[in-house]
Amino acid sequence: MTTASSPGKIILFGEHAVVSGVTAIGGAIELRARVTVQDEPGCVLIKTEDLALQGFSLDLISGRLTSTKAAHATRYISAVLREFDVRDIQVCIDSSLPPAAGLGSSAAIVVAAVAAISQHQGQRLSRKEIAAVSHRLEKEVQQGLASPMDTALATYGGYMQVSGEIQPLDLPPLEMVVGYTKMPHDTKTEVEKVQDLKKHYSNVVDPIFQAIGAISERAVPLIGEQNLAELGLLMNVNHGLLGALGVSSRELDELVYAARGAGGALGAKLTGAGGGGCMIALPGAAGIDALMVALRQARGAAFRVVTGCEGVRLEDDP
Ligand code: PMV
Repeated sequence: MTTASSPGKIILFGEHAVVSGVTAIGGAIELRARVTVQDEPGCVLIKTEDLALQGFSLDLISGRLTSTKAAHATRYISAVLREFDVRDIQVCIDSSLPPAAGLGSSAAIVVAAVAAISQHQGQRLSRKEIAAVSHRLEKEVQQGLASPMDTALATYGGYMQVSGEIQPLDLPPLEMVVGYTKMPHDTKTEVEKVQDLKKHYSNVVDPIFQAIGAISERAVPLIGEQNLAELGLLMNVNHGLLGALGVSSRELDELVYAARGAGGALGAKLTGAGGGGCMIALPGAAGIDALMVALRQARGAAFRVVTGCEGVRLEDDP
């Protein structure tokens, strides 16, 4: 039996503007996807029992599927099984990351699967190889649309800066709360919407992208100095700019305002593509628990996270 786990991610600053080459910063979060593989003669069985993926199992040989809720996860695992030409195997996924929420759930599943399956096959892949294969497979399944940031963070952990190319940032951890609207989002639709706006109103959208890029760049030293008050302020400004681009939603705004109001957050913004999915908030003097209660009262799911955590790792067998 071989088990590997990988973290999810949040985008701290710079989403959407990064598509046009402006700087964005992402951090790995300590909510993990865990993939366990074991020999099972005559079978290629993929199953999950966790809450986020709602529980299902699929036998790729008989086609027996006991739930379709998480069928998306099977596409990623099948791509990894094909890549390594594996049969006679059972793959179990256990993820605490909600899918289609912008928290890098699919990248975490692909990276953990690549690490666990390659190791089980007796191949020792470097992190660089794991990141490269995983990005290629995620992109293939998502028909060309996959940011390298998600697979890089799932592999290496820590923080990454993207501006044209992707590079690691050496920064301290931050305690944050992720609020999930429980509404799925569609990255492709949101990206197209913003790029379309840019095409028609480039003189309006370009300065917004530039302002977002300036926020990302200023945020790096602020995280380094743990200047949380200034960081919170910039999160609020970044959320306003994303709202101007049309990618916030009533549900996201309600969570953002609940976090800043009753939750006492120093700052809050949507994270990822928007339109649904998640927001992030930086706890203030009221503390993390008050923030989580405020988000739940505003009908969101709340996850306590630490950013900048460890990347993919092989787990000891239970
Ligand atoms: O798919 P998400 O929610 O993790 O966010 C994608 C971030 C965007 O900047 C909107 C798109 C991209 O490819 O960078």
